[in-house]
Amino acid sequence: MERTFIYLKPNAVRRGLVGEIIKRFEQRGIKIVALKLFWMTREQAEQLYEIHKGKDFYEELIEFVTGGPVVAMIVEAPRVIDMVRHIIGKTDPLKAGTGTIRGEFALTITKNLIHASDSLESYEREYKIFFNEEEIVNYFLDV
Ligand code: CMP
Repeated sequence: MERTFIYLKPNAVRRGLVGEIIKRFEQRGIKIVALKLFWMTREQAEQLYEIHKGKDFYEELIEFVTGGPVVAMIVEAPRVIDMVRHIIGKTDPLKAGTGTIRGEFALTITKNLIHASDSLESYEREYKIFFNEEEIVNYFLDV
């Protein structure tokens, strides 16, 4: 079974969209296997976004994601990496399809509400920045 890492950015928390966003994953049948609310440190943000270091949006992005609490989770389902990115929509809210999270609720690229790993390699790297293995819970979904 495939897993992916997701986190809801500070504007999702401050706008009270946590329930709305998680609902979209749950109603699709995606299982949450780890979940927490916390304030991301600069070290964690720099590690997460190391590939963007030096880009013009980098500083603004780091300031933004460390500027308020976030909700991070690990979710599980078949083909969940692509499925979650499909539900979220394209990085630029202008290009995110109608019905996607970013397409419905986001306005700017930096404040695009949510991040999800874009590949298995990214997932393996990203979840370890925020979660210990003991925080991942195994259980069965009910009907
Ligand atoms: P995220 O999925 O968190 O991954 C990198 C983030 O950089 C992206 O979402 C955006 O929030 C942010 N970002 C800001 N400007 C850009 C840009 N021009 N291109 C890509 N990502 C950007």
